[in-house]
Amino acid sequence: KQATDQLIIDAGQKHFGAIACKSCGMIYTAGSPEDEFQHTQYHQSLLDKIKFVGWKKERVVAEYWDGKIILVLPDDPKYAVKKADEVRQLADNELGFKQVSLSCPSRSKTYLFVNSEKMIVGCLVAEQIKLAFRVLNEPAEQKELKKHELLEHHRAWCCSTKPENAICGISRIWVFSLMRRKGIGRRMVDTVRNSFMYGCHLSKEEIAFSDPTPDGKLFASNYCET
Ligand code: ACO
Ligand code: ZN
Repeated sequence: KQATDQLIIDAGQKHFGAIACKSCGMIYTAGSPEDEFQHTQYHQSLLDKIKFVGWKKERVVAEYWDGKIILVLPDDPKYAVKKADEVRQLADNELGFKQVSLSCPSRSKTYLFVNSEKMIVGCLVAEQIKLAFRVLNEPAEQKELKKHELLEHHRAWCCSTKPENAICGISRIWVFSLMRRKGIGRRMVDTVRNSFMYGCHLSKEEIAFSDPTPDGKLFASNYCET
C-alpha cells in the first residue's frame, strides 16, 4: 500500500500501525477498516490459490525433507494445468507481468514446490530455447558495448549482443515471499537441470534466465557462479 498523508488517530485499538501478516505476507495498517478489508480478501484468495490438495497422479521430480517438486506438463489433466496456471498468474502479478501469456504453452514445463504444509510456495516455468543473451554483470563489460548497442537495450539489465547456445529458458521463477532464502529457488533450478530433458543433465551454461528482476539477478548470479 502506498504511503498516504492521512492522519491516523490512535483510538486505543489493540493493534496499531503497519503490520505484516504472518501467513500471507501482506503489509497493511491494522485498525484501518479499509486496509483490514483488503487484507481479508487478499489473504483468503492467496491461500486458496497456493493450497495444494494432492492429485491422483502427481509427477514428483524431487523430494526433500521440507517438501517436494511436482512437474506439470501442458497435456496433463485439466485440474493440474489449471492449478499451475493459477500459481503462475500469482507470480506474474508480483513480477508485474500483466496478462502475459506463455510464448509457447505447448512446450512449457511448470515446476511447483509444495511444502510440508501442502502449500505451493514456489513456481518455475521453463521453456525450450535455442539462443540466449548473457546478462552482463560488470559495468566494465557493459562499457565494451558500443553506444548504439547500449541504446538499443533499454532493459533493466544490459545484455550481451552475442547470442549463445542454451537449451532451457527459465521464463519465470517465483518463491512465496515468506519462504524466500531457504534454497527453494535453487532446488527448483537444480531440478529443472535434471529433468528438463529426459536422461540428460543440463549444465549451468545450458540454462538461461529471461529478463531477470533485481531479485532474479541476485539469485541467478549466485546460482550460476557456485
Ligand atoms: N538478495 C540477495 N541474494 C539473493 C536474493 C536476494 N533477494 N535471492 C537469492 N539470493 C542468492 C543468495 O545468495 C541465496 O543464497 P543464501 O540465501 O544462502 O545467501 C541464493 O541466491 C539462493 O537463493 P534461494 O533461497 O534458493 O532463492 P529463493 O528461494 O529465495 O528464490 C527468487 C529467489 C525466486 C528470486 C525469489 O526471491 C522471488 O520469488 N522473488 C520475487 C520474484 C522474482 O523477482 N523472480 C525472479 C524473476 S526473473 C525470472 O523469472 C527469469
Ligand atoms: Zn494475511
